[in-house]
Amino acid sequence: MAKRILTGIQPSGILHIGNYFGAMKSSIELQNQNPGETYLFIADLHSLTVNPKPEDLRMHAQRLALDYLACGLDPEKTAFFRQSDIPGVCELTWILNTITGLGFLERAHSYKDKIAKGFIPNNGLFSYPVLMAADILIYKSDQVPVGKDQKQHLEMTRDLAIKFNQMYGDVFVVPEPIISEAVAVVPGTDGQKMSKSYNNTIELFGEEKAVRKKIMSIPTDSTPMEAPKDPDKCNIFALYRLFATPEQTGALASRYRAGNFGYGHAKQALFEAYMDYFASMRKRREELEKNPGYIQEVLRKGAERANRLAEQTLDEVRKAVGLR
Ligand code: TYM
Repeated sequence: MAKRILTGIQPSGILHIGNYFGAMKSSIELQNQNPGETYLFIADLHSLTVNPKPEDLRMHAQRLALDYLACGLDPEKTAFFRQSDIPGVCELTWILNTITGLGFLERAHSYKDKIAKGFIPNNGLFSYPVLMAADILIYKSDQVPVGKDQKQHLEMTRDLAIKFNQMYGDVFVVPEPIISEAVAVVPGTDGQKMSKSYNNTIELFGEEKAVRKKIMSIPTDSTPMEAPKDPDKCNIFALYRLFATPEQTGALASRYRAGNFGYGHAKQALFEAYMDYFASMRKRREELEKNPGYIQEVLRKGAERANRLAEQTLDEVRKAVGLR
């Protein structure tokens, strides 16, 4: 049976290659593999829970849309929309709030992590998983591809769907998470996980000179130029393999092991591989950037599709709980 697949991403910063290889690439590939319907949305209401500056939220959401389209998202195959364009999501969040226990929300890792990082918790942050459940359940999604960090949120969504169905009758589909173990963590320029908060990112569509500078300043050990080197212990090599074919990766590994090959050469190879890999996407992005009206139209049409589905489910929900 054809499956309905849905996923979301927050517009929380400028996208980097960790975002691309960790989430974007596979969510774009889905559109070609999935014979059913595919939905992808910009989770702007979730981003509000940490109170970003309005101009930053607007800019990040616009860039996210532009970057996804540049990377190959096909709006004919994937309904692409903004979460905040679907008013029914907030109504369903409220209804789900009324069946959500406080203890259940207190156990959410993402909430506990944010508190540990010093965020002053607001009610939105606390009920973040309920909004996420509404996002998923409103479209009766069968499958939800996410990274490991979202696993608990998916479990909470399933629990809420089951509880609602038990209380009010079978309305919701209980969704399956798809968590790809295949995606290794993309390392940053310092070898830790690439993340905006560690300041170790390589931007997905960074300005050429700035990217070159970033790559050239990747710290390395002091093995002399002439000495053979172990590619598997080198962060430059770990990044290079994301872009290169297995043959190119093998060839670079041999050059490491042969000696007389310095880290400067490896960095140059990485920079060239990065530029080659994203060349056609950069070109497409430049063209799309000249046409903001097109992006708005894509998001408007995506929202129209999503709203039709959301309204159908909400009608059933309203009837089931006695609001009609
Ligand atoms: P967000 O915006 O933090 O991340 C978007 C997606 O990217 C995955 N991800 C990663 N995967 C592998 N390695 C990494 N280093 C890495 N960093 C992030 C995330 O797991 C996620 O799949 N709450 C969600 C957004 C959301 C959502 C939804 C997702 C809101 N509603 C409904 C699915 C369905 C979030 O904050 O993702």
